[in-house]
Amino acid sequence: MNPGMKRLSLRAAAKVNLFLEITADRPDGYHDLVMVLQSLDLADTVSLVSARTTSIVCSHPLVPRDASNLAWRAVELVGRTYGIGTGVEITIDKRIPVASGLAGGSADAAAVLVGLNILWELGLTQEELQVLGAALGSDVPFCVSGGTALAMGRGERLTPLPALRSLYLVVAKPVDLQVSTAWAYQTFRTRRLLTQSIAHAPSSEMLAALTTGDPAHIAPVLYNDLERVVLDTYPEVKALRERLVSVGALAAMMSGSGPAVLGLAADRAHAEQIKIALATDPQIEAHVCTSEPAGIVLEK
Ligand code: C5P
Repeated sequence: MNPGMKRLSLRAAAKVNLFLEITADRPDGYHDLVMVLQSLDLADTVSLVSARTTSIVCSHPLVPRDASNLAWRAVELVGRTYGIGTGVEITIDKRIPVASGLAGGSADAAAVLVGLNILWELGLTQEELQVLGAALGSDVPFCVSGGTALAMGRGERLTPLPALRSLYLVVAKPVDLQVSTAWAYQTFRTRRLLTQSIAHAPSSEMLAALTTGDPAHIAPVLYNDLERVVLDTYPEVKALRERLVSVGALAAMMSGSGPAVLGLAADRAHAEQIKIALATDPQIEAHVCTSEPAGIVLEK
């Protein structure tokens, strides 16, 4: 490394939705949401090295290594906003499944925002980083702060909630299946599902359950409106949801636009048992996860 060259390494946490209700179609094409979001210890590592131009190194075949990657767009946005003409070499150690409803791409972009603030000595507050993040994607502001939060608007209006004590869950997905978030929301809109409201637990019940921190109270109030489009189209996701319950999860629900499904467990040993039960199916990838109090953590 040349003298003066700086390197940073950050942990970028995946998120799950414990609650996702679509409350309105917006004229800008987005949807107003009420969500409860939770960071997980399932995380990518994003390393940044100051460089003349921007580049991305990542061995995962589905991660773009050009300006179509949100992490690259984060560098461009910060550079443009603060008049910085140099770039950064981004290395992504990808552990969060791609295009799975776990905000992996948003988490990497959030890590780049937090990292550039340090590398380029910008002195931005977390709120200022979140405003930049909202211009990149709806999940990026949450990924900057992480923890447990209520999210409204298109997902960028955040209210932090008290950190959950360790909540254990299994995050599982069919291997080789990705779902487009834009497709899921647009299908919900074209099928006019907003007008066909279905009875479910309101977010206030989820917020009350969270204050107990008890997975047995959280399990019955998990909710995700996007299941109404994704489970029909992808029967393997519906089958996985049913399988998680049949192998003993307290409840199972899709995260975001899927196809990842979370199975809630009573404790770590229970989560490990669920993962072992799923391991008989080579078409399922499963991770034991626990709740994390932060989105981006500086490693070194
Ligand atoms: O904000 P982001 O680029 O991550 O969103 C991806 C797509 O998901 C959007 O293009 C939009 O179709 C859909 N979306 C939505 N309402 C939201 C968030 C996302 O319709 N609140």
